[in-house]
Amino acid sequence: MSILHDFPGFLHGADYNPDQWLGTPEVIDEDFRLMDKAHCNTFSIGIFSWSQYEKEEGNFDFTWLDDIMERCRTHGKKVFLATPSAARPAWLGNRYPETNRVDETGCRLSWGSRANHCWSSPVIREKLALIISKLAERYAKHPSLAGWHISNEYHGACRCPLCKKEFVDFLKKRYGSLDRLNECYWSAFWGHRYSAWEQVDPDDRTIDLAQLDFLRFNTQQVLDFMRFEIEALRDYSDAPVTTNMMGVFEGLDYWRIAEACDFIADDCYPTWYKGETEAMAARYAMYHDMHYSMKNKPFLMMESCPGIPNYKPYCKIRRPGEFEREMLLALGHGADGTMYFQWRKGRGNCEKIHGAVVGHDGTDRTLAFQRVADYGAKLERIREAAGSAIRTETALIYDWESAWALHNTKGFGEYFGDFSRQRLIETVCAHYQAVWTHNVPLSVIESSCDFSSYKILIAPMLFMMKPGVMEHLIRFVEEGGTLVMTYLSACVDEHNLCFASGNPGGKMLRELFGIWSEDIDIFEPETKQTLRLTGEALDGKTQFDVLRRCEYLHAEGARVLGVYGEEFYAGTPALTVNQRGKGRAYYIGADTGLDFLEAFYGNLLKENGMEGVLPELPRHVKATRREKEGKRYYFVQNMSDEPQSVRLPRPMRDIWNGTPSGAELLLPPCGSAVLLDS
Ligand code: GLA
Ligand code: ZN
Repeated sequence: MSILHDFPGFLHGADYNPDQWLGTPEVIDEDFRLMDKAHCNTFSIGIFSWSQYEKEEGNFDFTWLDDIMERCRTHGKKVFLATPSAARPAWLGNRYPETNRVDETGCRLSWGSRANHCWSSPVIREKLALIISKLAERYAKHPSLAGWHISNEYHGACRCPLCKKEFVDFLKKRYGSLDRLNECYWSAFWGHRYSAWEQVDPDDRTIDLAQLDFLRFNTQQVLDFMRFEIEALRDYSDAPVTTNMMGVFEGLDYWRIAEACDFIADDCYPTWYKGETEAMAARYAMYHDMHYSMKNKPFLMMESCPGIPNYKPYCKIRRPGEFEREMLLALGHGADGTMYFQWRKGRGNCEKIHGAVVGHDGTDRTLAFQRVADYGAKLERIREAAGSAIRTETALIYDWESAWALHNTKGFGEYFGDFSRQRLIETVCAHYQAVWTHNVPLSVIESSCDFSSYKILIAPMLFMMKPGVMEHLIRFVEEGGTLVMTYLSACVDEHNLCFASGNPGGKMLRELFGIWSEDIDIFEPETKQTLRLTGEALDGKTQFDVLRRCEYLHAEGARVLGVYGEEFYAGTPALTVNQRGKGRAYYIGADTGLDFLEAFYGNLLKENGMEGVLPELPRHVKATRREKEGKRYYFVQNMSDEPQSVRLPRPMRDIWNGTPSGAELLLPPCGSAVLLDS
C-alpha cells in the first residue's frame, strides 16, 4: 500500500518556502523550471506562512498561494499543504499574549522564534481554526493537494494556568482519588503527601512519577491539539494527514501521535563522520523501521538535507555516493518517498546556511542540485517498487514511557537524571545494529504492540513494564518465541515503582527468565570485567569485555551460558537462558561491546533458522528487501569507502544503476544498488 493511493511512484521533493521570495517573482519562475529538472514531484508548502496569509487580523490574502498551487498543477507537482500553527503572526502573539507559552519558571515567553504557543489557549484555537478552515475550503479540491502537513515538529510544553488546570484534570482522571495518587506517587517519601491535586508539581525532580506523568500529559495535550487541527480541516477535506516526527525525540510518545496520522513522516539528519558510518546507518535504519512499523506500511522521509545541515558539530560536504546512500537507506527500510529541508536556501536568518537543493547562487550547477537531480531521475527507474512491503520475523522494542521512567529515575551512576541518560538509546541502537549487520529485517515496536507474529523479540533495557506487558511476554515465550532482555529491564511498573519481589519484573518475570537480579555493579572505566562463555565459542571467542555495568545475578532454574571473569563475583551468571513452554528467554546481565552482541545475535538467528535477505554479503555491505506482487527488490549498500564485490545467489538486474542482469554486483565506495529479483 502506497502513501498516496493515486500516485504510482516514489515521492521526491522538499519544503518549499516561496513566501520568502514574493518580491522576486523571477526566482519563483526559476524554481519551477529547476524543480522539473531535479525530478522533484512533491512539495510541503505553507509551513510558516500564517503571517503571509493574514498580515492583519481578519484580513486574509491567499493570492500568492493560489499562484503557487496553480504552478504546481501545471508542473504536475503534489503538495502537502501545512496547517500554519508552527509559527504565529506577530500581531497574534502581541495582541493575545495568553497564546504565548509559560516556561518552568512561570515566565510568559515572548512571541518570537517558533513552535511556542500554549496548547490550551482558546484564542489560539479560535484563530487557528479560522485560518485552517479557510485553507481547507480553498484548496481541498485542488488537483495538486496530496495531503495535509499538520504543524511542524510538534514539541514543548506550557505551564500557564490553563495548561496547569488541564494537568490537574489529567491527574484526576488517571488516579480517581487523592489517596490513590498518593499511593502511586509514593508520596510519604520526603513528606510529599498531597492534600490537593494542584500541589503536584510537574517540575519537582525528586518525585519520579510527577515528571513521567507530565510527559504523558504533554503527549496527550499535543495529540489533542493535533486532532483539533485535523478536525478544522475535515469539514472540507478528507485528504490524508501527517505530522513530521523527529526520530526518537524524547518529548513526545510518537506512538500516540501516530494514532492521529494517516501515514507517518519523519525528519532525518544523520551525520557521516569517519569511523561511525555503520553505527549511524543502523541508527537511522532503526528509526525508519520504527516508522514503517507504526502503521505497518510505507512512511515518508519528510525532511533530510541534500547538502550540509546546520546544527551539527562538523558540517562536511557530502562525499560521492553518501547522499544517494542516505536516501536509499530510507527507501530500503520502507520509505515511499524522500524530501528535503529545503528547496531553496533563504538569504537570511538562522537557517540561511543550511544545505538546500538550490543554493544562494540559484543555479543547477552545484553538487547538491546535481545529486538531487540524478537521484530523482533514478527514482523514476524504480517506481514500480513504491508501495512494496517489508516482512519481518524479529522485533526490537523501544518504548517511550519506559525511556521516560528510566530517565526520571535517579541512581545507576547519575545524580539528577540527564547526565548521560543511562545510555538507553545507544544500547537499543547497539542491539539493533547487531541484528541489522546480519541483514535480517526488524520491526521496531513499543511494548504494548502485539508480539504474536514474531519469532524473536528483543527488549534492551526495557525498564518499565506497562500494564499487561509481562503477561504478553510470558505468552510470547510459552508459544514458542525467543525473548532477549538485558540489564536494567523490568525494574518498575507503570507508576515508576520498583517491583516488590525483586528483578526482573517481580515473581512473574523472575520465573520466566529463571533468574534473580540482585543488584547492578556500575564501575569506573578502568575496571576490567569480562563475560566468559561456559559453552561453545561465539565467532571464535569465549571471552568478551564488559563495559561500564553488569548485574549481579542468581540462576533460579536458568541455564548459565556465560559468567563474569573478574571481581569477587567471578563465576556468577552473566548470560542465561530459560526454557518456558515452547520458547526461550535469554537474559544478558552485562553491558558489552558490539562484538559480543553481533556474535550472540548471529548465533540466535541461526538457531531460529533466520538468514540475511541475501546470503554471504561482504562485511560492510548491507541489504534489505521489499516485496510487491511476487517481485522482490533488494536495496544493497556499501557502507565502506572501499569498492565491494557481491556474489549474488542468482542473476539479478540492478534497476537503480540500469545494469544488465548478472550474478556479480560491483559497488563503488558508498555505492548503492536496487536489484530486481522476479
Ligand atoms: C527541522 C524543521 C525545519 C528546519 C530543519 C533544519 O527539521 O522542521 O523547519 O528547521 O529542522 O534542519
Ligand atoms: Zn498554556
